[in-house]
Amino acid sequence: MPKMFNFDADSYADAFAERGYVHIPGGLPEDFHAKLVKYVEDSFEQKHLKDFARGDKQQAIFEFLEPEHYDELRETVASICGVDANSLTLSERHIKEYEPGADPYPLAHKDRFGSEFSVGFSIRVPEGSTLVIYPEHDVSVNPFNSTAELRSSFSPHTLPDAELKSAPRVEIQDQPRDVQIFRGHAMWHLREHGAGTTVLYLKLNTYNCDTLGEDPHSAATRQDTLSLANSAHSDWTDSNPVLGRRVDYLHRRYSRDWSEQFGVVIYGQPHATVTEAEFEALSLMNGQRTVSEISKLMNNSGMGADMQEAIRQLALRGIVDLLTSPIAMGVSRPKTLTQAA
Ligand SMILES: [Fe+2]
Repeated sequence: MPKMFNFDADSYADAFAERGYVHIPGGLPEDFHAKLVKYVEDSFEQKHLKDFARGDKQQAIFEFLEPEHYDELRETVASICGVDANSLTLSERHIKEYEPGADPYPLAHKDRFGSEFSVGFSIRVPEGSTLVIYPEHDVSVNPFNSTAELRSSFSPHTLPDAELKSAPRVEIQDQPRDVQIFRGHAMWHLREHGAGTTVLYLKLNTYNCDTLGEDPHSAATRQDTLSLANSAHSDWTDSNPVLGRRVDYLHRRYSRDWSEQFGVVIYGQPHATVTEAEFEALSLMNGQRTVSEISKLMNNSGMGADMQEAIRQLALRGIVDLLTSPIAMGVSRPKTLTQAA
């Protein structure tokens, strides 16, 4: 089976921990890259994502060329980024194509919340096309499910563009076959002189987050959750509950008369009300605690009596996934983020 990568992932771990990004020249084997080029030529039109078209950048969804490449991707990203491969969820697999008239100096953006690790495969890169990353200026995580929401959230005087003009910037003049990995949801970035560039972006996270439903295993995760929720009592109370993959955000919402609603929004769906106790229980789901442990914590704090059944109901509603083993969420923090926190 042809491999996706031909480099020693461990040798990039220190650089990623130090800087929050790595550039791996020639990281894709020639035969795999040739297949990617052919894939783009053959299938870009059919898999076009009209909903994701943004100005002069078109996108298409990518299907893995070999099923084994999914695990190879997770293991490689885990080694470089210092996280557990089993904790990684894929949240995006898009081919991005910059049109001939693409703005040579677009505004910087941050990737959606689920893009804890953004992995770029350079497929076609014209001379001068440059990935620009700002690894030191405002590396707070984009809490939204799109960069458009993040931009809309600013007032005119808090927009980042004026300060980014003088912020330290890293310019990566990538070549076809290169691989870039960076903290996409935390670091402002853009592509200058992008016209004619084609990049495959694979985004991953350690938060069980797949709002768009693009991880090939997300359907199985949901099915496993439903099976567990309907299984014998000890099976699901021993499981590790986490926010469901499609959950976009949680909120405490106030109407104009200041009455309060606790809610969860699954991507593309309306507000789903939960109780205050359920809201608290959701905040305790760190990937390590079991259903019974969370229930005990809630009981001890006087917040809720029978949270086990409440959590089972949340699982049936798609608000919670039940995992059969714990996951380590975001355990590795690079120096740049730790210092900025
Ligand atoms: Fe991006």
